[in-house]
Parts: sequence; C-alpha cells; structure tokens
Amino acid sequence: MCGIVGFIGSSEAYPILIKGLHRLEYRGYDSAGVAMINPDNRVNVYKTRGKVADLEEYVADKDVSGTIGIAHTRWATHGEPNSTNAHPHVSGNGKIALVHNGTIENYAVLKQALVNHGVQFSSDTDTEVLVKLIEYIKETTNSSTVDAIRSALKTVIGAFAIAVIDRDNPDQLIAARKSSPLVIGLGETGSYLASDATPLVEYTDRVVYLRDDELAILSRHEPLQVINLDNEPANVDIQTLRMSVSELEKGGYPHFMLKEIFEQPRTLRDCIRGRVVNNNTEIKLSGIMDNAEAFKNVGRIVIVACGTSWHAALIGKRLIQDLGKIAVEVEYASEFRYSNPVLNTNDIVIAISQSGETADTLAAIKLARSKGAMVYGVVNAVGSSIARESDTGTYIHVGPEIGVASTKAFTGQVTVLAMMALAIGQLRGTLSKEDTAVIASSIQKLPDYIEETLKLDPLIKELSQTYTYVHNFLYLGRGYNYPTALEGALKLKEISYIHAEGYPAAEMKHGPIALIDRELPTVVIAPHDDLYEKVISNIQQVKARGGEVIAIVTRGDKTISGIADHIIEMPKVIEQLSPIVAAIPLQLLAYHIAIKKGCNVDMPRNLAKSVTVE
Ligand code: F6R
Repeated sequence: MCGIVGFIGSSEAYPILIKGLHRLEYRGYDSAGVAMINPDNRVNVYKTRGKVADLEEYVADKDVSGTIGIAHTRWATHGEPNSTNAHPHVSGNGKIALVHNGTIENYAVLKQALVNHGVQFSSDTDTEVLVKLIEYIKETTNSSTVDAIRSALKTVIGAFAIAVIDRDNPDQLIAARKSSPLVIGLGETGSYLASDATPLVEYTDRVVYLRDDELAILSRHEPLQVINLDNEPANVDIQTLRMSVSELEKGGYPHFMLKEIFEQPRTLRDCIRGRVVNNNTEIKLSGIMDNAEAFKNVGRIVIVACGTSWHAALIGKRLIQDLGKIAVEVEYASEFRYSNPVLNTNDIVIAISQSGETADTLAAIKLARSKGAMVYGVVNAVGSSIARESDTGTYIHVGPEIGVASTKAFTGQVTVLAMMALAIGQLRGTLSKEDTAVIASSIQKLPDYIEETLKLDPLIKELSQTYTYVHNFLYLGRGYNYPTALEGALKLKEISYIHAEGYPAAEMKHGPIALIDRELPTVVIAPHDDLYEKVISNIQQVKARGGEVIAIVTRGDKTISGIADHIIEMPKVIEQLSPIVAAIPLQLLAYHIAIKKGCNVDMPRNLAKSVTVE
C-alpha cells in the first residue's frame, strides 16, 4: 500500500527516484509524486493522478535537478486519487516535503487542533496533517527538523513509514517507521530508502531494516544515524541483501504475472532445495526441528492469513491434520485480531504471507504472541516485518513477486506447508517411513509436473476466447481442491473483473445451483482422487441444468471427458499435492481471459500488492 523512495548523495536524485517508483508501483498506482531540493535550495514538488509513467510525462519539461529527494506512488486511503491528495505533501511555508505510507488514525483530532491554531489545509489526506504538524511544532518550539518530527510522531496513532526533506537542512534526509516497512540502502554515491529493497538492488547490497518507532537520519557527509523517538541511539544492523536485478525484470515476458506463472518450476526447485533430503525419505526444516518439543506438545494450530495466502492456509490445514494429526483452525487475519481469540501457551500460530507486510496478519501475530502462543511465519519476503515478528518459520524462497495477482507465492506456500506437515508427521510419529517417502518424492517431482502443466498454455489461451465476455463464473472443487476453487475464482475476479465464486462442489446443491444456466460457466477441479466419483455427480448436476463445464482432470481421464464441455488434463499427482498443479491452469485461464478483455493484469484496478493498511 503506497511505495516510498528517497535518495541523498552525489548523484542526481530524480532518475533514482523514478526508477524506484517503477519498482514499487505494485504497491499502489492511483497517483504519484516527487520532491527534490534543487541547487538553488528550492523544494520542487511535482505530483499527478495516475501511474508513474504519467508523472514522468508531467515533469518532462520541469526542473528536476537536485541530489536529495523523495517520491511516492499511492494507493488511496484518505481522499480520492487526484493530484491534490497525491504525495509529497508540503508544509505551509513550502520548506518541508513529506511522503507517507500507512494511516494516521487520529488525523481528524490533530487536524482540528491545527485548524484551531490557524493552520490551513488543501487536501483530504491524513498525510498533510503530519507535515503541517511537524512545521507547527518546529516553528512554535524553535526546534530542529529531527526533533519536530520526533515530537509529531509521538502524538500520532496509527501506522507510518515517512520520508522528509527540509530546505533548512538540504544535507539530511529523515525517515521513520511504525508498522509500515522501510529499508535503507548504503551505497557508494549516496544513501537510499524505500518501502522494500527492490529500488535499492542496483545500487547496493548493504541494507538496514528500520524497526518500529525508529528514526533514521541519512546525511550527505555523515554515517547513517538511527535513534528512537526519545532521541536515544539505536543499533544500526547492516545486513547483506540477496536479490538480483534480473529477478525484478520481466525477462522477455509481456507481464510480470505471466513471467511468474512460467517461473514456477524454478521457484519450486528453490523452495524445495535442501529441504527434501536423504534420498527423498526425510524433510529437513530448521523451524520445525529447532522447535521439536513445541510441535510434539502442541495443543492446536491456528493459521492466520489473508487472500491467496488464506487459500493456501486452507490446504495447509488439511495437510497438517492428515499427516501430523493436529487440530488446525484457519482464520482470516483481519477477523482473528478482533475475535478475542482463546489461545493457550502450547498453541502454535502459523502466519502465511507473501509480502510479510500485510497489516492484518502482522497485527494477528502480535496478538498471538501477546497471548503466549509461538508464531511460525511462512513468508516470501526475506527480512519483512512478519518474518521478523515471528518466533521462527520457513521462507518459501520463490523470489520477488511483482504481479499483483499472487501466483508463484501460492504454489510456494502450499509446498512449504506440505513439507511442514511431513516434518511434523515425522516428528510426532504419525506417519510411516513409507508414506513419508511417497509424499517427499512427489514434492521433489513438483517442478517437473508444473513444467508439463505449463505446456497447456496454448490450449488454455484458445479456450479463454470463448469466455472473454462472460459476466459470471462458478469454480467448484472438493477436499484438497475446494481451496483451489476459491483461488481460481479469486484470480479471475481480481484481474479480469469478472464476478467469480468458488464453492465446495457438494455445497452447490444448497443454493448456488439456482444460478446455473447457459450463461454461467463452471470450472470444476476434478483430479482422480478419493472424491472423484462424487465430483462427477456434481458435474452431472451442472450439465443437467444446461451449464457449461470446464473440467481440470487427471491426464487420461475418460469419464469426465465424455461429460464436460472442455477438458484440461494435468499430470497425475498425489491428492495432497494436487492443488499445486491444478493452480497452474487456473492461473493461465485467468491471465488469458483478462488479457483478451484488455485488462492491466499486473496492476488491476483498486488493488495493491502489499496491503499495509487495515
Ligand atoms: C491475490 C493476492 C492477495 C494477497 C493478500 C495477502 O492474488 O495477492 O489476496 O494474497 O493480500 O497478501 P500477503 O500474502 O502478502 O500477506
């Protein structure tokens, strides 16, 4: 939700800021802006509605000089997306410019107090309140910019990552965070900051992840200084960034989403590497091994997540229950945090998150920890807030996911959950050596299965033409593939804007069956598993009412091919892992339908990749 970038050094700031904004555009893209202090010590602020490319066009003939600057790409929370509400926001005297990611919850109270002191506002944003509060404190108390920012932040309730420049201190870029991510890069020709590490990769691999309630002073001539809001020095922990520029580019694909779909054989190899060991007879996950007693004595497991990660959680629940024989509950993180959950100290909370920054999931794990439960993170973004707030965990290691629709993260999450379930089963003695070996060998083969499944792309592309102008879709699945149906429906609706509903196939007869007619295609995930015969009955029920069926079946299936209108054949894979393979045709179907409709699949309307607000 919103991306911020900053630079101070000896190079021109603008090209660095714009390139950084492009990298962060997945976080929000309804408006964008930049501010630089030029060599004449003037703060030039440019902002516009729309994407970063619109901003570039807008500033084409303007003065963008300066070696210090900040920039922002917005996902609106307060105030509609327009150039007035876009960031940076500027103090009344035009000296201070500020960009912000997060939400100031008490902004209305602060704004009223400032209005009572004669301060004027031009936007509807919570951010303008913050910059005007800093200005007010600075002027009325005659304090330094840093002290004014510290004082202002102490009065703020909510989440923030901010970057500030001030004409009175053109050699300092100031940043601070609470519950919204911020990473600082230390390079040869200057210091950088951004909402995540992607804008820093080509300049440095030396990074510092700012912690909550810390304020960083990036100076032109001094080393990085980090203090807390009480002005006490904080530890500066310089880490090495492991990310390459090529991971952040489209690599010849027209969209990140397609690249990420096709990357899945490799990303799953990375995810599995070193974890399925001993000739595919054992799983080695340090997060489980180092906490063996906790998993042996666990009362129950609660998995918290949002969106696609929540769908992965539903599959994880079945895996852990089946293989580890532990009672598992799955909760939307946003509901969990307000449900006054009963947690015991022998419960384990698993948090699943691609970005590692989802505000609801982060709040859920903070709550879980406050109640004494151990938190296990299943996260993609290395060093992210959820990874750091968890007691232990397993990274999915699928590399940066840029397309807003999650694809490779989903398959990585389910693969990690399968490995966790096996490791827990081994540990608790609930799984025979033979069963472990069968599932572990299948995990090892997943990249090959996916490679085969990707060959369906031309067929699915062709099929997508039939459904471009449909208004509604139904997705059905049972058992392990009920969550796959939910995920297929989510993929379609978020990128093509076609309404799609996922349902457990057998539940259809309790209501949704009333919707079925020639206008409503149904996608059925029907691999050859324990519930196969029952799913065939569900398909018959749809066909009997004139509905069209697209069935995802195990290769060689003869029965369903005689009933369904379209067949997509996936390789034969054990039931527990079938959602990982079945997800691929669903991702491709959503992608091709959205492309045919002319939708921007990498940046669907109203969405942002990293949901760092409630
Ligand atoms: C859907 C999608 C979202 C995310 C959700 C959670 O394609 O990407 O539903 O899955 O916002 O995000 P993370 O996993 O980053 O916590």
